[in-house]
Order: sequence, then structure tokens, then C-alpha cells
Amino acid sequence: MAAGGGPIRFLTRWAALGLALAAGVAGAAEAPRLSALIWIAPGHEAAALTHQPAMCLKGGGTDAEVQTGAALFNAPMLLGGQAARADMSCASCHSNGRRNPHFHLDGVSAEPGTADVSSSFFSLARANGRFDPKPIPDLSVPGKVSRDPATGALERFLRGLIVEEFSGREPSPAALAALAAYVRAIGDCGGAAEQPRRLADQAALVRLSVTAAERLAAAGDAGTAAIAVAGARHQLGLINERYAGPALARERKRLLAASRALQPLAQARAPGPEELRRWLAGFERDLMPLLARSEARSLYDEVRARNWIAQNRAD
Ligand code: HEC
Repeated sequence: MAAGGGPIRFLTRWAALGLALAAGVAGAAEAPRLSALIWIAPGHEAAALTHQPAMCLKGGGTDAEVQTGAALFNAPMLLGGQAARADMSCASCHSNGRRNPHFHLDGVSAEPGTADVSSSFFSLARANGRFDPKPIPDLSVPGKVSRDPATGALERFLRGLIVEEFSGREPSPAALAALAAYVRAIGDCGGAAEQPRRLADQAALVRLSVTAAERLAAAGDAGTAAIAVAGARHQLGLINERYAGPALARERKRLLAASRALQPLAQARAPGPEELRRWLAGFERDLMPLLARSEARSLYDEVRARNWIAQNRAD
């Protein structure tokens, strides 16, 4: 493995994961690392970092429960164990609720876009001892699990997935209902394939997560509210990674401060809806304009992202 000032290598995935786990989210602020690369197939980095499957939600995605579900779908803390520690969420495999064709994790995947969800990497409870990767399904397409709300099959499936396959904590009824509502709302965009990845995507998830936390906290679901707040911090971390290099140090400092301000709210027994609203107002007023101004100098810019990958690729 390259050491010192040399290029970091994508190929030592488990080593990279170990480093990421050791560094922790905040500690990795200066490191030139993009956490999603841990589960991206070699050679797919540029495609995975610059584009994502198109997202269309039925009904425009304005329903509050669907929005809460979208926040949880992108929140690593909904999952437990290794998945959560690697900052992985439902969206790591089902990007935008669709399918991540670039997903690859050693010991979990065969070809890119496949995963063995009953791998002991995720959970010992459901580990079946067989290496059994399956294609990651596009959730906009009706699949094996009935989406009919009357049967409750989707809710039961999602509970099993979270608790048994991903070692997550028992989800609250509100969390399960929201996640199921989101899965049912995922549309296929009339066949449109891809859209670029932008700051706006992460910013939208920050808003969705904090708003979901507000709603859950107001309803007395403190545990799920904390998962959503941690999800907002995760999205801030993803923005932080893209604002790499000395020229964007100010942006990173402000991102870190914003994330730290959320920390007590993620840990509080019941984050106050009022405090969450205030945080979000500050994010829109103080941080978003700064980030938007320098987006073209960040790794959200496609050319910069491709150059960054070329420079950091192993050999
Ligand atoms: C490591 C990658 C991975 C993660 C993370 C993941 N999934 Fe999946 N998901 C899969 C794979 C692979 C299948 C197909 C399994 C099979 O066919 O047996 C699947 C199947 C599903 C299905 C069933 C689709 C059908 O056929 O009807 C749903 C719904 C689903 N996932 C939702 C989720 C949600 C919600 C989360 C987060 C709680 C999640 N997944 C996390 C890989 C993943």
C-alpha cells in the first residue's frame, strides 16, 4: 500500500475501510478520501462519482411521509454493524432508490452491481455461510416483494432487512411506514437513465433529513429523529469530502462547524424541533451561498472529479 505523501490506492479496499473507521467522520476532514469509493468497483470510480440514476418520485415526492422515508433511506445509522460503520445506507446499493451498477465490495459482491445481503460482513444473524451475491434490484420496478399496502409485506421485509441482514436497531413503526412509503413512491422516470451528481443533491438530503428529524421529534419518536440528524451530518460529510484541497479550507471549516452544531441534537434524547429549525435556517443563510459559490472548484465539478480520480488511482 502506498504510504506517506504517495497516492492513496483504491485497490486496498479493506485497508481503506479500516482507515476510514479509525479516522472517524470528523477526523477525516483533511484526508483526500471519498468514502463511497470503498464500495465502488475498480474502473467505475469516475462514472459513480459524477453520475447517478435518475430520480423521480410518484406524486412529485412532496408527501411528508415519503420525504421522511427518503431521509432514512440515505441515513447510515438506520443500518447497524459494519454497514453503518462504513457509512453505508440503503442508497449505497439502491442509488436514488434505483440500482447502483457500480457497487462492489470484496466478499459481498461478484460482478459490479451485485451484493450478498446475507453476508457475515453485515450481520451474523442472517449470515448463511454461502457466497450468494444477487443483482441489486431497481426499486422502481415491481419485484419479489409485494408493494400492496394492504398486505404489509413490504414493511415486514424492510424490518427483516434492517434488523437481521444489517444488524440495525428495531425500527419504530413510524420509521418503517415512512421507508415503505418512500419505496412505493420510487418511479422510473419514463426510462430516463442518469443525472449528474451535484451539491444540490446533498443539500436536498440535508434539508430532508433535518425536516424529517423535526417531524419525528415533534411526534415523540426521538430514536428515529436521532437517526435522521445523524443522516444530515453524514450528508455534510459527503459535501466536505468534495470540497478538497487548500483553496476550499474555509468551506470545510464552516461545514465542520455546522456538523458539530448538530452533534448534540443527534445525541439528545429528544432533539428539539425548534433547535432543528434554527439550525436549518442558518444552513440556508450562512453555508449554502458559500458552498454554491465554490461548487465549480469542488469535486462536484465533473472535470475536477475525473482529474482527481486519475491522480489518485492506483498505478
Ligand atoms: C449491500 C447492498 C444493499 C443494501 C445496503 C440494501 N439493499 Fe436492498 N437489496 C439488495 C439486493 C442484492 C437485493 C436483492 C436480494 C434478492 O434478490 O434476494 C435487495 C432487495 C431489496 C428489496 C426487494 C425488491 C423486490 O424484489 O421487491 C427492497 C424493497 C430493498 N432491497 C430495499 C432496501 C432498503 C429499504 C434498504 C435499506 C434499509 C436496502 N434495500 C439496503 C442490496 C442492498
